[in-house]
Amino acid sequence: MIKVNKVNFTYEKSKKSALENVNFEIKKGEIFGFLGPSGAGKTTTQRLIIGLLRGYEGSIEVLGKERRDWGNDFYEKIGVAFDFPNLYIKLTAKENLKLIGSYYKNKLEDIDVLLDRVGLLPYANKRVESYSKGMKMRLNFIRSILHKPDLMFFDEPTSGLDPVNAKIIKDMITEQKNLGKTIFLTTHNMTVAEQLCDRVAFIVDGNISVIDSPKNLKLEHGKNSIKVEYINYGKLVEDTFNLETINTNEKYFDIMRNKKIKTIHSQEASLEDIFIKLTGRKLL
Ligand SMILES: Nc1ncnc2c1ncn2[C@@H]1O[C@H](COP(=O)(O)OP(=O)(O)OP(=O)(O)O)[C@@H](O)[C@H]1O
Ligand SMILES: [Mg+2]
Repeated sequence: MIKVNKVNFTYEKSKKSALENVNFEIKKGEIFGFLGPSGAGKTTTQRLIIGLLRGYEGSIEVLGKERRDWGNDFYEKIGVAFDFPNLYIKLTAKENLKLIGSYYKNKLEDIDVLLDRVGLLPYANKRVESYSKGMKMRLNFIRSILHKPDLMFFDEPTSGLDPVNAKIIKDMITEQKNLGKTIFLTTHNMTVAEQLCDRVAFIVDGNISVIDSPKNLKLEHGKNSIKVEYINYGKLVEDTFNLETINTNEKYFDIMRNKKIKTIHSQEASLEDIFIKLTGRKLL
């Protein structure tokens, strides 16, 4: 669905390039996540593919055609949920969806069903200017899937949402994937990446260092360990033991035999640990 090949991009008036030799592919039907700290180039990449930014070097092939060669019919095929300056704040939610829907030739989703799904039906006839940030985000999200696009771009789709609403959005993204849609999202939230993405790319300073499934990354780079809390000479202390070598670790046996154990927890390497290990950077 998307093939990005040797893409470089520098913002006008900027000395530093925002993207350097970026390469990746997104296959039909997958949820692909860009994971990286602030300023990494996540939004820039999405904006280039969508066509909100121009003037890139390299090749960006989307839906079988070079991005530069697409006309306006491109926008029938894609859905975009970024920040929400594209909502009309003087109109109600329903008026927004009706108006935006009228721009498309595609058959639309049922507006009331969508509003209900994200808990906005009771506020459907209220002006968007009275909406909270989370309400606007949810409206913006359903706006992006209204015209049943095949390819969707979500920039930090759950940031700023409470856990209940974040779950609704995550479930809706998964439903879209189950319908065969292709999704490219950005996040700096590891949990979101793990829960949703078939594959993730780690991006830092405009460079992609790794692309793989969260599961493979954990298998390959993760170090499974257990954390033991025990009493040592009257004080609570903790120690971590690598599971691969635990059966020959004398210290571990000594603690098990002779100390008062308070807790034992197994610890899977988190995607965050792996991100730090591979990029040398933290996510936030
Ligand atoms: N309009 C702009 N003009 C000049 N430089 C920009 C502009 N927008 C972004 N940049 C720069 O490009 C780089 C990549 O920014 P980008 O917004 O793509 O990062 P991001 O990964 O989306 O970060 P965040 O997690 O904060 O959204 C950064 O160094 C940023 O300062
Ligand atoms: Mg961004």
